[in-house]
Amino acid sequence: MEQNGPIGLIDSGIGGFTVLKELQMRLPNENYIYFGDSKRMPYGERENEELICLGNAIIKNLEGRGVKTIVLACNTLSSLISEFTSQVPLFSVIEAGVQETLSCREQGLVGLIATIATVKNKGYERELGLLTTEIEYIAQGTHTLGKVINDGQGDLKILKSNIREAVEPILLRGVKKGMIIEDLLLGCTHFPIVAGTIRKMYPELNLINPAEGLVRLLEENLQENDGFNPGEAAFVTQILTTGDFEIFENMISELELNCDSLEMTKLKGFA
Ligand code: DGL
Repeated sequence: MEQNGPIGLIDSGIGGFTVLKELQMRLPNENYIYFGDSKRMPYGERENEELICLGNAIIKNLEGRGVKTIVLACNTLSSLISEFTSQVPLFSVIEAGVQETLSCREQGLVGLIATIATVKNKGYERELGLLTTEIEYIAQGTHTLGKVINDGQGDLKILKSNIREAVEPILLRGVKKGMIIEDLLLGCTHFPIVAGTIRKMYPELNLINPAEGLVRLLEENLQENDGFNPGEAAFVTQILTTGDFEIFENMISELELNCDSLEMTKLKGFA
């Protein structure tokens, strides 16, 4: 592993910033390149075939920029991880989300809100099934919440009604199974951006953010492979977007991300 190569991150838009933020805080001596494919957001409404082509193209793009490892900071892409070809280690935010689930619960039901594609692909259920049969996800897909957040959240009323539409069916399905849902996994990297609003609406729910588990997975891998950046030079974060420059600028400042350069870019092979 090229120790001073940057860590690449991929998302459809600004959602992966929630993962980047966590990484910058916990692994500050690393360089980062973030690729946000805003032009084609929302990924959650796209077909798998197209998502696989997009994911592979972005992975190739980042490999060309010398990354030492790639984090799929997007649950939708992570639900298709076995379909991607990569020369460097690939990390899935879904694997991290399952680890986080197991660290707060041993059995019972856990609510999961995610994009339509993530829910359809059953990435969480597959990953969880490898480790336990004692926990069951009650999953609800949302067509719109990720996009509302990506577009700057707009009217609070609209945001809240989108959150309600995603969360209420989960609570109801819990009740039908005779259980009260206590944990809600935020299965789209856009959702932690509005965790404060979700918490105010549902103070009884414990929110699970996969980003925390992701840092742990990555840290372990870098440790095992002697992959930490040994450099003492200034550490650099480069952010690339295929659209929505202003939304990126605003969110970088709202989340107080370290960002040395923000650039518009194109994805080879896509209009
Ligand atoms: N942030 C992404 C995820 O975690 C995708 C949102 C979207 O583009 O639909 O799934």
